[in-house]
Amino acid sequence: MAVEYDLIVLGGGPAGYLGAERAAKAGLKTALFEEKSLGGVCLNEGCIPSKALLNSAKLYEHAREGAKYGVLCGEVRLDQKAVVERRGRVVRTLVSGVAAKMRGAGVKVFSARAKIAGRVDGGFSVEAGGEVHTAARLLIATGSSAVVPPIPGVRENLGGFVATNREILTLTEVPDRLAVIGGGVIGLEMVAYYAAAGAKVTVVEMLDHIAGATDRELSGMLKRELEKKGVKFLLSHKCLSVEPGKVAAEAPDGSRVEIPADKVLLSIGRRANVRDIGLEALGVETNRAGIATDAQCRTNVENVYAAGDVNGHHMLAHTAYREAEVAVNAMLGRRDRMRYRANPSVIYTLPEIASVGLTEEEAKAEGVEYEVKKLSMRYAGRFVAENEGGDGLCKILVDKKHRNVLGVHLLGSYASEIIWGAAEMIETELRVCDVKELIFPHPTVSEILREVIWEFDDAAK
Ligand code: NAI
Repeated sequence: MAVEYDLIVLGGGPAGYLGAERAAKAGLKTALFEEKSLGGVCLNEGCIPSKALLNSAKLYEHAREGAKYGVLCGEVRLDQKAVVERRGRVVRTLVSGVAAKMRGAGVKVFSARAKIAGRVDGGFSVEAGGEVHTAARLLIATGSSAVVPPIPGVRENLGGFVATNREILTLTEVPDRLAVIGGGVIGLEMVAYYAAAGAKVTVVEMLDHIAGATDRELSGMLKRELEKKGVKFLLSHKCLSVEPGKVAAEAPDGSRVEIPADKVLLSIGRRANVRDIGLEALGVETNRAGIATDAQCRTNVENVYAAGDVNGHHMLAHTAYREAEVAVNAMLGRRDRMRYRANPSVIYTLPEIASVGLTEEEAKAEGVEYEVKKLSMRYAGRFVAENEGGDGLCKILVDKKHRNVLGVHLLGSYASEIIWGAAEMIETELRVCDVKELIFPHPTVSEILREVIWEFDDAAK
């Protein structure tokens, strides 16, 4: 019996929908299964809605500080309900855009949860909504979910007093006091929003620093910027319990601290969605991070691929896009592979952080011989013109001997828009002398890269 499709995609997030579109456009008869809404966590309850909120916070901050720029505003107020409604409109527009893309590419979309059922002649079977569908190949792109730890009171209050990334984006009132458990990417972006919106924010973070693997100097600067806005950080504090009205944590000296709160955001990490999708029916291997994949996003089972958060490599939407393309190219027999060295990451706080390549901490740990130079963002004229009293940093690492760029780390406005250029430098192995020959538009904040590069000698001393 012939299989129904060339490819079945499980999950309609960035990896799933982009993989489906690329495959269908390349001529593969493709079906995609999504149980919730097309666009996945990124579009519905992650990257995009959080950016809609943060843009409102940015405007609000600008309006309140307008006088610094000669703009006198009357009463400035943040209408949380309107902010959240706009977030919804943005999401709906983009979800319908993804649906249109699927139609345009000829992808058959099913609104159902799919589970791998087993093998059939020439491929695999998938069960969804009581029906069985078959395909020659599978792309597993089921994403990730918020980690819910066994901390007393967390599970019982989930969706109510305790919010995850999902609920925190839909609050129609700004809580007076917000406690955030976990000072990583999700935590910090929401800290930036709610602190700007007027909440008294306290962050409980287990480590002695915020922002995970981010360059320590930058994360320290971000912490100070957020503290200026009234955010309180309890570092090296472990969350002990949660009950409506408060969070309890253990301080480094072993004492117990209680943080009064009207809402709690739980943001202690995400876990790959590998359960209950039928991996065992095929014997698909998993590891601690998620589904085990190689550089072509192939699993241990021939013709079964996994892309995006579910393979646990980077858990970033843009990485998911690229992984999906690599997986589809592997299906089509085209030469391609994942390279993560020049994978940029951004924390969309106010101000934002963007990084690519090695941090100093990583270079030291890997024994890489590097040279580092840094300058304040105030070396870029555009930054000074637009950021009254503000500051930021650009830090570049180059290989001591070969003089190629190893890492670029930025804190300040437009960092997220600049970083792809820095990623190009790393991807194409540009050396100091090569970057010096590039022309940057003036005046832009991106010129800071050029300023810092000119601090290096072309050749190793
Ligand atoms: P995360 O891994 O970035 O941060 C979690 C933090 O929680 C860590 O700093 C950890 O030390 C801390 N923690 C863990 N258990 C704790 C406890 N019991 N008490 C106190 N602190 C504790 O995880 P997050 O923020 O939930 O984000 C999840 C994923 O989503 C990340 O992998 C990130 O890459 C992705 N993401 C990316 C965004 C972006 O690219 N801008 C935006 C949002 C999410």
